[in-house]
Amino acid sequence: MATIKKTALVIGAGTGGYPCAIRLGQLGVDAMLVEKGEPGGVCLNVGCIPSKALISATKLAHKASHAETMGLRFGPPQVDMVKMQEWKSGIVRKLTSGVKGLVKGNGTEYRQATATFLGPKQVQLTYADGSPSDVVEAEHIVIATGSVPIEIPGFAYDGKRILDSTGALALDHVPESMIVIGGGYIGLELGQTFQRVGTKLTVVEGLDRLLPAMDKDLAQVVTKQIKDDGGEIVTGARAKGWTERDGMAVVQVEVGGELRELSAEVVLVAVGRRPVTQGLGLEKTGVKLDKGFIVVDQRLQTNVPGIYATGDVVGQPMLAHKATHEAEVVAEVIAGRKSVNDARVIPAVVFTEPEIATAGLSKDEAEAKGHKVGVGKFPFSVLGRAMAIDETKGFVKIVIDADDERVLGVSIVGPEASDLISEASLAIEMGAYAPDIGLTIHPHPTLGEAMMEAAKHAVGEAIHIQNPRKR
Ligand code: NAI
Repeated sequence: MATIKKTALVIGAGTGGYPCAIRLGQLGVDAMLVEKGEPGGVCLNVGCIPSKALISATKLAHKASHAETMGLRFGPPQVDMVKMQEWKSGIVRKLTSGVKGLVKGNGTEYRQATATFLGPKQVQLTYADGSPSDVVEAEHIVIATGSVPIEIPGFAYDGKRILDSTGALALDHVPESMIVIGGGYIGLELGQTFQRVGTKLTVVEGLDRLLPAMDKDLAQVVTKQIKDDGGEIVTGARAKGWTERDGMAVVQVEVGGELRELSAEVVLVAVGRRPVTQGLGLEKTGVKLDKGFIVVDQRLQTNVPGIYATGDVVGQPMLAHKATHEAEVVAEVIAGRKSVNDARVIPAVVFTEPEIATAGLSKDEAEAKGHKVGVGKFPFSVLGRAMAIDETKGFVKIVIDADDERVLGVSIVGPEASDLISEASLAIEMGAYAPDIGLTIHPHPTLGEAMMEAAKHAVGEAIHIQNPRKR
């Protein structure tokens, strides 16, 4: 067993870890990144990237099969899922090998091993190939171990009938039917992915509507799409257990005090994720946890000097871009800079059909914070560009402070919401007012004009929609 001395050690090469390792290298800190699996973590290997590849492929198929109104007729899509999976895996391989290259290229050492704390400054590295373990002694240690899917009683993942998101992303065929338990981000993104190429979809949600954490008017647009595509949504429902019958999973669901049976070829369980803190030897460090999450301050420091944490393991929202931002901040903190995580907004995107994206406060949140609130809304149904791409569902909604017209929040449901939201994030981050967006010339004809018009609508000056008579 060798002892290796480093200034900094980063545990976990996901989006909360590898950007930290790269930045540490750039800042001249002698660092090591350790990862037990593949570089890139959940996001690159079994999350954001592979899901977006499958989503974009099936969106194309769906659009093609609904292109009759544009004067185009294609036959029903023929899906070669094995080929689609190969294409998806190629993208993942390119990105994960890129990560490793960037880490090493910036001068940070990379090791594939399992890390376990022996003390606050000492971590043991265990190698899967059985080579003798090493001990790393580091002044600064960053925990970026991420999260894993929550399991619910009675639904142990078996990779065949009962799938987590990883299992669903690896399907080698389009299932004839799928029950999704949990109508949140993952359930809807992956449920719609397969629904678009023919899977009969049923969503079982515990609360009274889909995407309960989002504004109702946003969730409604996606809910309607799922139903229009032939899906069933069962709300206020608790999945109790399942049995295998005639090659199908028969799921017992309690709805309004009554038991119902739903059956499908596969069941995707997506009821949230939990932080990974077990098995790390954290008890040897004294690091404080709260409901399983590692407690950190604005500089990502735990209660133990020299130990930091980033990403899903420090709490909600469990989003890759939040993790990356924290990773960069913590690298600068370790390098002695005065950096803090003082981001005003963390945008969120759900890659449903249509997409949903939010930044800043919702109307209810703004009111709860004591703002007198004004709202501007512009529907894609009256926007030239949206009509030209035949994607007219949804709207842009801007929440402003009615007293000074400052932009407090923006939410979008509709085409390319994921790309449109960055303008809103920048606006809020810079403390912009609605007229800053409204008076900025947006190119025509583009989807971005909806943002400009919504901002104008919020102050009663929209051109292509009726403004409220009195303000
Ligand atoms: P989620 O928190 O988004 O949704 C879980 C849903 O399951 C909730 O609506 C909840 O009410 C429901 N639920 C919980 N227990 C249930 C039960 N026993 N029966 C029926 N319904 C139940 O969690 P999800 O979809 O698993 O995603 C986890 C996290 O991963 C998200 O919170 C998000 O941070 C991240 N993620 C982000 C994505 C993105 O940025 N586009 C995509 C996918 C995941």
